[in-house]
Amino acid sequence: MKKCWVIYNGSLTSDKFRDQAELVKDAAIRAGVAATVKRNYEVQMALSEKLEERPDFVVFLDKDILLATFLKNAGIPVFNDPEVIETCDNKAKQYIQLAKNNIAMPKTIIAPKVYPKFTIEGSGYYEKVIEKLGFPMIIKEGHGSFGMKVYLIETEEDFYVKVDELRGVDYVFQQFIATSRGRDIRVNIVGGEVVAAMHRFSETDFRANITNGGEASVIELTLEQKELAIRAAEAVGAEFAGVDLLFGENEAPLVCEVNAAAHIRNIYNVTGINVADRMISYILRKLG
Ligand SMILES: Nc1ncnc2c1ncn2[C@@H]1O[C@H](COP(=O)(O)OP(=O)(O)O)[C@@H](O)[C@H]1O
Ligand SMILES: [Mg+2]
Repeated sequence: MKKCWVIYNGSLTSDKFRDQAELVKDAAIRAGVAATVKRNYEVQMALSEKLEERPDFVVFLDKDILLATFLKNAGIPVFNDPEVIETCDNKAKQYIQLAKNNIAMPKTIIAPKVYPKFTIEGSGYYEKVIEKLGFPMIIKEGHGSFGMKVYLIETEEDFYVKVDELRGVDYVFQQFIATSRGRDIRVNIVGGEVVAAMHRFSETDFRANITNGGEASVIELTLEQKELAIRAAEAVGAEFAGVDLLFGENEAPLVCEVNAAAHIRNIYNVTGINVADRMISYILRKLG
């Protein structure tokens, strides 16, 4: 019998991370795998020692990239691959990768590195960004989920307050897709195939995230939406992905982001599709 660990971050207090791990664990058990849920800190990264216990594979639902790399280096297959987790964990890095692969997305400018104690205000840099993207504009931090680090900037004054606040942080400036205000699509992909999708909409916020007050319903994807989502997951190398799509002009899809450890509870509740079953069968097929 194969053994698997499902790893989540034990320092997070919200129940949804544990719940996500339990969904994957239950799917593994249904498929005849001896699965256990582990908090990241329950695996000690002692570098010159051999791991006492070794699973046959790990489903990695966290962003503890060092732990994912540690396990991979111990010869254990880790899903998603640690490099993919790292790319997706930083939206700036991810957008560079998406652009390299010609993925349709909003106009995006990666903010230059500014050391926390210094500023480039007065250099003319920010004026050029404003000229190119205009207002309203999106500013998005590299690390952030549930819409919490995505800002709609309406005025020049707010813009300068935000860039000052973000000294020392990776972030991007992005065109605000007004035709997508308060609505987007979440597409869950496993091994290059669309498994489930939902339409998310919010009447109170420009962000459609459910955690942020958005509601969701089932959606039948167009071929264009499907293909773009699959190509976006492929561009960052993600075997499992939750791709967010925006509605551009004439409803043409644009990639908003790719999540490497997308939550699957909401999409299960909305569509009745348990993405975890597909994740496990994909892994078992791959490992042979
Ligand atoms: N460029 C944009 N134009 C319009 N809406 C956007 C844009 N970027 C993000 N959003 C909205 O904000 C939400 C959160 O952004 P996203 O990049 O997915 O970050 P998070 O990782 O926090 O989910 C999206 O689901 C979408 O509704
Ligand atoms: Mg998102």
